[in-house]
Amino acid sequence: MTQAWAAGWAVVTGAGNGIGAVITRLAVKEGYRVAAWDVDGAALDALAADLGAACVPTVVDVSDEDSVVAAVAALPEAPQLLVNNAGIARFGPLLTLPAADWRIAVEVNLTGTFLVGRAVAARMIEAGGGAIVNMASINGIAAAPNAGAYTASKAGIVKLTEHMALEWGPEGVRVNCVAPGLINAGMSDAIYADPEVRRLRQSRVPQGRLGTAEDVADAVLFLASAKAGYISGQTIAVDGGITKTALMSMPRPRSVDSVGLDAARESD
Ligand SMILES: NC(=O)c1ccc[n+]([C@@H]2O[C@H](COP(=O)([O-])OP(=O)(O)OC[C@H]3O[C@@H](n4cnc5c(N)ncnc54)[C@H](O)[C@@H]3O)[C@@H](O)[C@H]2O)c1
Repeated sequence: MTQAWAAGWAVVTGAGNGIGAVITRLAVKEGYRVAAWDVDGAALDALAADLGAACVPTVVDVSDEDSVVAAVAALPEAPQLLVNNAGIARFGPLLTLPAADWRIAVEVNLTGTFLVGRAVAARMIEAGGGAIVNMASINGIAAAPNAGAYTASKAGIVKLTEHMALEWGPEGVRVNCVAPGLINAGMSDAIYADPEVRRLRQSRVPQGRLGTAEDVADAVLFLASAKAGYISGQTIAVDGGITKTALMSMPRPRSVDSVGLDAARESD
């Protein structure tokens, strides 16, 4: 390991575009040499041309066990970090959603996280440990219209994270999960290209803005770091607070502001 890659190897899946490319760039900045995996070979080549020797691109389909096992075997050393970021969205009402859309969402998002996770974890365990960060979504925390397949796959990742942490924690592997919220990047670029949608959506976020790929990457690299050394099995929503707003729009007649002690004082 040279000084330039002092943090060791990281594997980032879905590294070619969007949030994964930003995670890869930040990981390189923080001293990792990144094995960048994606099905989009052209995007990987562009990223690697920019990052030079610190980024080693490989076409890997995370839902294909043979592809994953071959890529893990080809890693020159056990990675210190795995970011299971590859994901796809399929939307539609459950009553009419094509079964193929359901299957591919679950295959790539959930099964992909499982396959890459266990193959990389086996190498980390041999080498004494490491850190894994899985990419869920606020859809894995709260239901949203037409998002049944995506939501189920992402909620599965939240629970899979807990099981990975339970099984591999004693072997020195910490496993956590990031759940991005309304992020103005990657697969959501098309949504936020519409200024009205952007305005309406960001007005619902307590922090008053959409998130960025950098917000997500910062959380991932924090969870990877020694500063998160006693954090495992957790899901951190990077969402400006939006998943905590369930009660914000509840009707609030004046009477509900004086219950309990306040109400007793008022009746004295
Ligand atoms: N952008 C958002 O608003 C948002 C919000 C919440 C969660 N997320 C999650 O963040 C992650 C990254 O999303 P993004 O917005 O950057 O999307 P993106 O579409 O820009 O990037 C996803 C990447 O995954 C790759 N990929 C797809 N299927 C693959 C497979 N089978 N094997 C390997 N690579 C594959 C794609 O080629 C692409 O490069 C995803 O898991 C997504 O669900 C995104």
